[in-house]
Amino acid sequence: FHNHFIESVRPLIELIDSLKLIGLDEDIGLPSIAVVGDQSSGKSSVLEALSGVALPRGSGIVTRCPLELKLQKLKNGPWSGIISYSGHRETFNDPLKVDTLVREAQNKLAGKAVGICDELITLEISSPDVCDLTLIDLPGITRVPVHDQPEDIGDQIKTLILKYIAKSETIILVVVPCNVDIATTEALRMAQKVDPEGLRTLAILTKPDLIDRGAEIDVLNIVQGKVIPLSKGYIIVRCRGQSDINDRIPFDKAMEAELKFFRNHHYFSSLLDDGKASTQCLAAKLTKELADHIKKSLPSLTEQIQTRLLNVQRDLKNYEQGPPLEEEMMGPFLSEVRALRFSDQINELSRTGHSKDK
Ligand code: GDP
Ligand code: NA
Ligand code: MG
Repeated sequence: FHNHFIESVRPLIELIDSLKLIGLDEDIGLPSIAVVGDQSSGKSSVLEALSGVALPRGSGIVTRCPLELKLQKLKNGPWSGIISYSGHRETFNDPLKVDTLVREAQNKLAGKAVGICDELITLEISSPDVCDLTLIDLPGITRVPVHDQPEDIGDQIKTLILKYIAKSETIILVVVPCNVDIATTEALRMAQKVDPEGLRTLAILTKPDLIDRGAEIDVLNIVQGKVIPLSKGYIIVRCRGQSDINDRIPFDKAMEAELKFFRNHHYFSSLLDDGKASTQCLAAKLTKELADHIKKSLPSLTEQIQTRLLNVQRDLKNYEQGPPLEEEMMGPFLSEVRALRFSDQINELSRTGHSKDK
């Protein structure tokens, strides 16, 4: 199983792990990634494509509680999952059970029908094939109550979503289907409210295969930022539709089909080269966002490493009188040397991050 996003983020995680290992006390975890959008816009599908974890999807209100998907990298060992919510905790080892267990959890927390609930469901997936990352799936924005939903269901959901996307440590993916008027998208307004400059907001256009004939040019203009300009821009993706799911089309096949779709598309093929189309481009763009996040910690990391360098030079002077014989003396010395090596690595990260900008 190969997942492009996980693979591209892996070097970043390894860098962070190494920095932690040599004891730099700067807090350099990665931000989590949350999706916001209307009901059935494709939020769960986008997260599924990024994580490789098959989440509940479908028409109507499927995601009814916030779901925190915590991916944890194992050195080795089999795939394992833990689902926990309000006192309940269950371990399982079949990836195919994710869907059932999440639906079961939602039924318990939010009732069997169409209710929503702001209690968090946490799903921890440990496997050698994932990376330490947190993705947050949120209920979709609705306006009109259905069945016996309360009158203020729309406001309830918005309050719930805001709680998650307001955190400055969260990258917001605004998910909008291509066949919906983006100008009226509440999700975009909400993101702009908590992130006015758009520094941590990425817009994702979904369902490009469902655009009405003749509307392709309008979508193209949107992706190129000609309608509503956004600082981080747009990416258009094609996820697995309901028939692909029914036919059990695997992720890698779906990704191949996605690339083929864009490559052969009369209007969108150029977007592939511009890095504005496909799940792979989304993965690359997100990786860069995460790298930039580490970059922000660079000045103080560099400072810490400089201090260490001075200490090493002082120690070296002392050692000129003769080599240190004891292991305990060498330990700290070696870790200083490793710190210096990472300094190069961080600088490289910073440099490539810069040169890729615009
Ligand atoms: P959510 O409610 O925002 O989480 O939306 P889902 O991820 O559950 O998707 C809603 C429906 O749209 C599902 O049946 C998906 O299979 C389908 N879907 C998502 N993305 C695409 C796409 O790019 N093309 C097509 N044809 N269907 C999609
Ligand atoms: Na849905
Ligand atoms: Mg969903």
